[in-house]
Amino acid sequence: MCGIVGYVGSSADGKALDVVLEGLARLEYRGYDSAGVALVDGDHVSTRKKAGKLANLRAVLEEQPLEASSTGIGHTRWATHGGPTDANAHPHRGGTDGKLAVIHNGIIENFHSLKGELLDEGVAFASETDTEVVAQLLARAYDGDLTEAMRSVVARLEGAFTLLAVHADAPDVVVGARRNSPLVVGLGDGENFLGSDVAAFIGYTRNALELEQDQIVTITPAGATVVNFDGTPAQGKAFEVTWDAAAAEKGGYDTFMEKEIHEQPHAVGDTLLGRTDEDGHLVLDELRISEQQLKDIDRITIVACGTAAYAGMVAKYAIEHWTRIPVEVALAHEFRYCEPIVSERTLVVSISQSGETMDTLMAVKHARDLGALTVSVCNTHGSTIPRESDAVLYTHAGPEIAVASTKAFLAQITACYVLGLYLAQLRGGSYADDAAAVLKELHQVPGKIEQLLGSMGRVREIARFMADTRSVLFLGRHVGYPVAMEGALKLKELAYIHAEGFAAGELKHGPIALIEPGQPVFIVVPGPDTPHGLHGKVVSNIQEIRARGARTLVIAQEGDTAVEPFADEIIRVPATSPMLAPLLTVVPLQVFALHLSTAKGLDVDQPRNLAKSVTVE
Ligand code: F6R
Repeated sequence: MCGIVGYVGSSADGKALDVVLEGLARLEYRGYDSAGVALVDGDHVSTRKKAGKLANLRAVLEEQPLEASSTGIGHTRWATHGGPTDANAHPHRGGTDGKLAVIHNGIIENFHSLKGELLDEGVAFASETDTEVVAQLLARAYDGDLTEAMRSVVARLEGAFTLLAVHADAPDVVVGARRNSPLVVGLGDGENFLGSDVAAFIGYTRNALELEQDQIVTITPAGATVVNFDGTPAQGKAFEVTWDAAAAEKGGYDTFMEKEIHEQPHAVGDTLLGRTDEDGHLVLDELRISEQQLKDIDRITIVACGTAAYAGMVAKYAIEHWTRIPVEVALAHEFRYCEPIVSERTLVVSISQSGETMDTLMAVKHARDLGALTVSVCNTHGSTIPRESDAVLYTHAGPEIAVASTKAFLAQITACYVLGLYLAQLRGGSYADDAAAVLKELHQVPGKIEQLLGSMGRVREIARFMADTRSVLFLGRHVGYPVAMEGALKLKELAYIHAEGFAAGELKHGPIALIEPGQPVFIVVPGPDTPHGLHGKVVSNIQEIRARGARTLVIAQEGDTAVEPFADEIIRVPATSPMLAPLLTVVPLQVFALHLSTAKGLDVDQPRNLAKSVTVE
């Protein structure tokens, strides 16, 4: 949430504005309520800012150009305190001499009392934001050393925040501070960068520094220095960004989401890569949790939000099946406040694409405080949740830019399968021997997704015909149930259509009242060899709703003829074993939401009100 960029370079180049705007373009997925920049310009700091997307700011910059500068900061906002107006757009100024500007991601929880104090002292405010309070405090604290000023101000702040500040009297300096909110450092040659994530500077350098919580970083053209909030010197942890700028570009597709849907074979394949030995056994040295500890686990709790939580629901079926360890899935924001029952024998698995989701982060911290072992399934190196966990299993989906998650979902499910099969292998039991066979089949899934993506023509047509539809329902059972929920979520967020996912068995307990003639219903059908006769039960559910006039859009495996008499449309997916089916059945639902959104002329990559990385509670 909120994208932040900071830059210092050589005064000969004066390219701060270009670098900051390029960074903002790459970070715009984090929030697009407004955008703004501040550049150090002689004895003052110049700002331009505008409500709406980055394009609006660019238009302002054309009308009112800024002088070339070598030091600047930029911000793209997801509004929390104060509406998405020009006045509330960042950067915010502190003091009255026009020398200081601040940008911020997060929430300053005690801003009311701080603002009251400043108002009593006669300070005037130009916005409704909590950020402006910080800017005013910084201006008052500044006494020739911006880092020291930042240190004294953060000591007074409660909440989660990333802050960047520039001051005209320190023209070659950008100071950043972070607490429970993302900030990474990019190290260039004679120029240095700060960003909410590495996308901010990937066009310039792949050398990066991770910061710990409660640290302040000061960048100059010559380097970066880090101190803890208490003033003790610290050092960031260096890492190399493994993807290049092209990975964060559309590569010929109209939207990032379409590109990311087509990257799904790689997301699954790369997440499996390097995790098996020659004999087909899983090797997860990266987990850094002893085999004995993993053998001793008697309970698993998965914490996540949104799409990642649906990946967790799929994982529950698979891990319980393979290991017989009870698995619970909790929405991270509920887990934190429900007195969860965990012990040192509980493995708490967090799932997060961004690694920054505040609710998930807080759930992980809570679990650790309660003594649980914590593993993070995460897509973003250098992010906070893996750092706060005992261990990490990275998904290798590459950068996900579209706000709606697609390839990360498949990679999360894959990583959870890997974790489940590894536990099965380690602990023995009936599934230990079968783990290798499941893994072998998993390796065939990328090819099947590729094949499936090549046959989406009819799904695109159905989406176009349904552009005026007001409500769509999704049904599934077993691992198809979270897929139905994910299909509904994609449609809500991308096409702004009422959509609900149900467990097909629950239908008769109420939701069937929603069915009226013409109501479109997607049904995710399990493969014919799914245990417990589930396939037959779902076929019966299709008949029940069709008898009441529903228009049935059936997602079924190739060769499943039993569904044919009851389907208005059949979308075929390649056959696979029941537990792995979500990696295929969700794909047509993603494609459907994408094309329905496009047919309605909506912004696929940046749907209204959303932001990619939810770093506030
Ligand atoms: C939906 C979507 C969200 C995220 C959720 C968690 O398309 O993207 O529901 O899945 O906000 O985000 P991460 O995985 O970054 O923790």
